[in-house]
Amino acid sequence: MSTWGGRFTQGMDEAFERFNASFGLDRRLILEDIEGSMAYAEALEQAGILSPRELRRILEGLGEIRDRARQDPGFLADAEDEDVHSFVEARLVEIIGEPGLKLHTGRSRNDQVAVDTRLFLKKAIGKVQQGLKGLMGELLSQAKGRPDLVVPGYTHLRKAQPILLAHYLLAWFEMFSRDRDRFDDCFRRTDCMPLGAGALAGNAFAVDREFLRKKLKFSRISANSLDAVSDRDYLVDFVSAGSVTLVHLSRLAEDLIFFSTPECGWIELSDEVTTGSSLMPQKKNPDSLELLRGKTGRVIGNLTRLLVLLKGLPLTYNKDLQEDKEALFDTLDTLLESLQVAQVVVRTLKIDAEAARRALEGDFMTATDLADYLVRKGMAFREAHGLVGRIVLECERQRIHLSELPLSRYRQFSSLFTEDLFQALSVQHSIEARSVAGGTSPARVAEALSRAEESLTLRNPSERGTSV
Ligand code: ARG
Repeated sequence: MSTWGGRFTQGMDEAFERFNASFGLDRRLILEDIEGSMAYAEALEQAGILSPRELRRILEGLGEIRDRARQDPGFLADAEDEDVHSFVEARLVEIIGEPGLKLHTGRSRNDQVAVDTRLFLKKAIGKVQQGLKGLMGELLSQAKGRPDLVVPGYTHLRKAQPILLAHYLLAWFEMFSRDRDRFDDCFRRTDCMPLGAGALAGNAFAVDREFLRKKLKFSRISANSLDAVSDRDYLVDFVSAGSVTLVHLSRLAEDLIFFSTPECGWIELSDEVTTGSSLMPQKKNPDSLELLRGKTGRVIGNLTRLLVLLKGLPLTYNKDLQEDKEALFDTLDTLLESLQVAQVVVRTLKIDAEAARRALEGDFMTATDLADYLVRKGMAFREAHGLVGRIVLECERQRIHLSELPLSRYRQFSSLFTEDLFQALSVQHSIEARSVAGGTSPARVAEALSRAEESLTLRNPSERGTSV
């Protein structure tokens, strides 16, 4: 049964009927659709449209549909309704008869789909934030497990300066913590109740929108009915925040792929997240990380899809908007599974301290410390930079490390050099010197670890269900 047959004399073309239907996707909104309908039925009773008895029957009927939807997968799978809203209304009328025909009074699928999606998204954001927290927790425990280990830090994919592994891991913690904040922003914008906007112009039965807001646990109501039914910015915000998260995951994946190559070797990926080759028996491939990198493209694609969907769309509701669901669901599913896999990867990482030590040898990673040494003895930095550059060149020619060049040779470069220059060259000295706030010195990193620990326990608005 369609919800709008009266004006039509002919049935729908079959191909168009399939084209028009969205139930295959939006049935995921069924619990939210029922939640919204229950609240709306109460508001109709308060407005005098439904008798208390009719309200009771509607609530019972909706409750029954909810229970069946939860328990019986076939209930939804076999249905042929146009969308989730028509499905619920049709089943309600089948179950309770007459009073079910009154539920849609003053309401439109346009404000209904908006409230359903917002209810759904508010919960979804909570799940994504839980996933982010889980990943941040794994990064933090890896960092706490190896507070003193020094590894090479890179710029331009070339060894640059020594850093603490914990400092490195906390950099990822920062990125995912910004993602968590971004989803808070997204939650705040989603946390706005559109029901009562009707098809576009507002509800003609004076339903109490404040009551609906409270009942459905939104922090505010939409201010303009036209905007309420056509706004999908909250979806753009979600998919955009999701894209940034996936971009971060893809960068993490890339780093871990690189650090786990035999050429670097100080990170080993667990068997649990790697695969073998069907041909080459020796291979252990980082497929989990490659897929994390690859999944990013899907979500960025979803963002583009939504933006193009909205571009140039006139006010108010247009059926184009039905196409928003796939971008939302696919982004959510991809985000959740990616965060879950990333957690396993990080939790099962093994760090090879010996390989890390070897990776720090050579490559002149403390050359900056040598220049800083000369600065502390009175030389201008630019001059010290040039001089150390020439020393590096000399060592490269002789194929030796900076620590292998004798003091007498150093002194030919500058009389400021004395025996203590060799301490300045040590990795430990280099780390400790960077004691500025946000730097890699052990003391600073210890502080950063406890700050990270504290921030992880903070609750997001999505955990409270509302942004106020
Ligand atoms: N299935 C529709 C959607 O997802 C619901 C709204 C339909 N409104 C309409 N006027 N046809 O957008």
